[in-house]
Amino acid sequence: MSQPDTPRRGKVAVIGAGFYGSTTAQRLAEYDIFEEVVLTDIIDGKPEGLALDMNQSRPIEGFETRVTGQTTGRSGDGYEAVAGSGIVVITAGLPRKPGMSRMDLIEVNAKIVRDVVENVVKHAPEAVLIVVSNPLDEMTALAAKVSGFPSSRVMGQAGMLDTARFSYFVAEKLGVPAGSVRTLTLGSHGDTMVPVPSACSVSGRPLGELLPAEEIDKLVTRTRNGGGEIVGLLKTGSAYYAPSAAAARMARAVAADSGDVMPVCAWVDGEYGISGVYLGVEAEIGSAGVRRVVQRDLSDTELAALREAAEAVRAKQADVAALLRAGDAALSRFASAKAALSRSCASQGGAGPARRRGPRHRRGRRHRTRRSRSDWMARSPGPRPAGRRRA
Ligand SMILES: NC(=O)c1ccc[n+]([C@@H]2O[C@H](COP(=O)([O-])OP(=O)(O)OC[C@H]3O[C@@H](n4cnc5c(N)ncnc54)[C@H](O)[C@@H]3O)[C@@H](O)[C@H]2O)c1
Repeated sequence: MSQPDTPRRGKVAVIGAGFYGSTTAQRLAEYDIFEEVVLTDIIDGKPEGLALDMNQSRPIEGFETRVTGQTTGRSGDGYEAVAGSGIVVITAGLPRKPGMSRMDLIEVNAKIVRDVVENVVKHAPEAVLIVVSNPLDEMTALAAKVSGFPSSRVMGQAGMLDTARFSYFVAEKLGVPAGSVRTLTLGSHGDTMVPVPSACSVSGRPLGELLPAEEIDKLVTRTRNGGGEIVGLLKTGSAYYAPSAAAARMARAVAADSGDVMPVCAWVDGEYGISGVYLGVEAEIGSAGVRRVVQRDLSDTELAALREAAEAVRAKQADVAALLRAGDAALSRFASAKAALSRSCASQGGAGPARRRGPRHRRGRRHRTRRSRSDWMARSPGPRPAGRRRA
């Protein structure tokens, strides 16, 4: 509903007008708190068409936020439209297809996110960046590096989504309202997602009192594979209703300077004994982005899992940053080597997300994260098999 007494303020830009970007723009517009929502894409006419459509829903939905669509060129033309944005949500990039891991997107999405961030920085140098492109932790680190922004002004969306998925599965299992469930996941958006059972409850009762441990484990596994489950059903793209709800809430917390505490991908500097990495943690969100990382008491097992996730993510983020400095050719070789190793793991453990998360895959992943960059570069890329080509 329109909020005539609430002044609409500021401008938020959403880069990438695909499923995630367009639903995020729509949610942001319907909040009716911004003066303008800008939606951009490189596909000629797509953002303009979607913006026109969204504006035409204003008389029905009763919001007055103006939506502006803008096609951008490869050389950065059109980015003037994002000038003055206080928040920029980066959704540009390919989504997964069935059988792909988020890491399979790294080559193409790293180039896209780098280009986008370089252009955003020129026109919205004061913005808070909310990254959603996958692989999320790596793309968030990359955006921070390319932008040169203070780490507090760059964050990624993953934990809100993983936590929401976990809460929904618990609610469905117990037949209770989704709003009565509190869950939490930390760590990375992927295999090293860290569920935090000690923070999970239903109407204030600890989850462990309501479900046996093996049932909770099943829900955790389904949450960890939550994105893949939807990719497998859709076959042509990935989830966007719950993801866009999460990104829009983060943007709203920034716009409102709310101080809300949310699980986000944020720069960790000493919390939980972890430093120098973008990682899924709880953070207090305000107008300047992350006000502070909120540290909670974790069990020994949870803390160990979080530290393990941090080391896995740190290795990948360092690789990407170093290879970006080395240029496009090096980035391509890195991605090809990574895909070759992923294929070799799949052929040992079976293709597909569920099989690859078995013990054999975990051994493989630990092994990989300990490799140096030169190990990666020395691997022969090899041909990409049919059916696994990126779009
Ligand atoms: N973090 C999360 O929780 C989460 C959840 C779901 C999806 N994702 C990721 O979000 C991204 C977008 O997903 P989607 O479903 O919207 O995909 P999509 O294919 O529907 O849309 C992507 C859009 O990005 C645009 N694009 C590509 N290069 C661009 C550039 N340089 N500048 C501007 N736009 C550009 C494309 O033209 C396309 O319209 C994917 O990387 C996906 O994996 C993340």
